Amino acid sequence: MGALLEKKNCIVTGGAGSLGLAAARLFLAEGANVVLVDRDRHALEQAATDLPTERIALAVADVSKAADSEAYVAAAVERFGLVDVLFSNAGNFGVVAPIGDYPEDVFDAVQAVHVRGAFLAAKYTVPKMRDGGSIVITSSVAGMRGDPGVYAYITAKHAQIGLMRCLAKELAPRRIRVNTIHPGPIDNGFQHAVEAGLGRATGVDGAAFFNGIIPLGRHGTAEEIARSVLYLASEQSSFTTGTTLMVDGGMNV
Ligand SMILES: NC(=O)c1ccc[n+]([C@@H]2O[C@H](COP(=O)([O-])OP(=O)(O)OC[C@H]3O[C@@H](n4cnc5c(N)ncnc54)[C@H](O)[C@@H]3O)[C@@H](O)[C@H]2O)c1
Repeated sequence: MGALLEKKNCIVTGGAGSLGLAAARLFLAEGANVVLVDRDRHALEQAATDLPTERIALAVADVSKAADSEAYVAAAVERFGLVDVLFSNAGNFGVVAPIGDYPEDVFDAVQAVHVRGAFLAAKYTVPKMRDGGSIVITSSVAGMRGDPGVYAYITAKHAQIGLMRCLAKELAPRRIRVNTIHPGPIDNGFQHAVEAGLGRATGVDGAAFFNGIIPLGRHGTAEEIARSVLYLASEQSSFTTGTTLMVDGGMNV
């Protein structure tokens, strides 16, 4: 066990999912207290089965709702005290469709989680944050490129960069650093669902397609993303704010 986040109080949204849970595990191994936020209680309880109960808390919340966001931040503060790290990571994908067919409700639902969710997380956490803390927002390689039909997700992932940049400037006087992390395709359920959709729409093997456009020639792992999140969350990156950290095997190049 290391100590890069010793006694640091961390909030992880999407904490029952692949990247959120991998980051939470690493934060805990580095000495942190962690509040896992997700919308599904059962998934949260499953995720927490082998985590140290004295250093975790679970909060059921829809990150796109203001009252839920205020409540999970309040629960985190009540349990552990002021917040040091916010990992704003909850996400959904939407569908892939030509612009003329793209469903408006799907577009709105995807912006609600990534954009409104990350905005609300910051809005309610920042007043309860210790100076010198860190905010990490999970964008994506999709925040750096366009692809036909991926309207909701790619728009949302670009928007998170704008949010991050405003926060980084506003919060710098308090030494709160704010950065986005940009994973490439990860070998997990979220990406497998994306690839299955691509396969249905085009007939291509989705996994092989992505491996073909990633210079390192493979998907990443949740643990690889977690290590980069730890870097941004900890003092290892003490002079880094307002930046976009690509962790994508070179896919954005
Ligand atoms: N998997 C990839 O290849 C990949 C690549 C780049 C970026 N990302 C991003 O990484 C983040 C985490 O994704 P993941 O791969 O761990 O997928 P995942 O589906 O395993 O985790 C996402 C989690 O977010 C939760 N969530 C969704 N909507 C929510 C809401 N309204 N309120 C609360 N929680 C909600 C889900 O319940 C789930 O547990 C997402 O923002 C995703 O866009 C993933």
